[in-house]
Amino acid sequence: MKIHVYRDLEAQGKAAAALFAAQILKKPDSVLGFATGSTPLRTYAALADLYAQGALDFSRVHTFNLDEYVGMAREHEQSYFNFMYTNLFSKVNIPAENYRLPNGLAADIDRECAEYEAAIEAAGGIDLQFLGIGHDGHIGFNEPCGEFPKATHCVALTPMTIEANKRFFASADEVPRRAISMGIGTIMRARGVVLVIYGADKAEITARALKGPVTPQVPASILQYHPNCTVLLDEAAAAEL
Ligand code: GLP
Repeated sequence: MKIHVYRDLEAQGKAAAALFAAQILKKPDSVLGFATGSTPLRTYAALADLYAQGALDFSRVHTFNLDEYVGMAREHEQSYFNFMYTNLFSKVNIPAENYRLPNGLAADIDRECAEYEAAIEAAGGIDLQFLGIGHDGHIGFNEPCGEFPKATHCVALTPMTIEANKRFFASADEVPRRAISMGIGTIMRARGVVLVIYGADKAEITARALKGPVTPQVPASILQYHPNCTVLLDEAAAAEL
């Protein structure tokens, strides 16, 4: 793991964007893995800026997102599809047929999971995957559990995650209870991973994930075994390392 610490969030977001920009410049038809949440917002803004300046071309890029809520239409304000469209896809020249998120409205969720996993493989696998982290160490929606999930699957969100995500909804009752998420195996098969963490509230889980034992009880801890994982922290998140 390469760990870098930044003084402010702007520099952290730009550094993550620079890694993705370098990936696209190196391989214009890169397959990128994207995430939602507040963590990637600065990175997506920086990527959109690079595109606006004429420095990046997304026309041959393909993307797969980590996860999507089950039962939520793409058009819903809080869908992860809408998040990606608003914050990135509508701002760069990526063709609509090149970005994909799990379909939370699929009639057969297990089949959707299998097809999503197969689509990633058919695209040649993910070159570079962006990750944030939940307070319980989840990545994507891989919550603490007995063993690391290998492939894209349907998950029940934990009370902690529902609580953390209720800020985007009118109340906790409106937070969907299930999601489709890439598995830990899917994430580990990415050729490169960029994990971005900021804020004092994530200092404890940062230390457990990066320096503690590798255990499915802290899903992000498996990244200690990834051969090409770059971690970008701010000083507050790095405080307990
Ligand atoms: C959600 C997403 C994760 C994300 C996490 C942290 O649960 N499924 O991919 O990393 O939230 O979000 P934030 O960046 O807002 O702290």
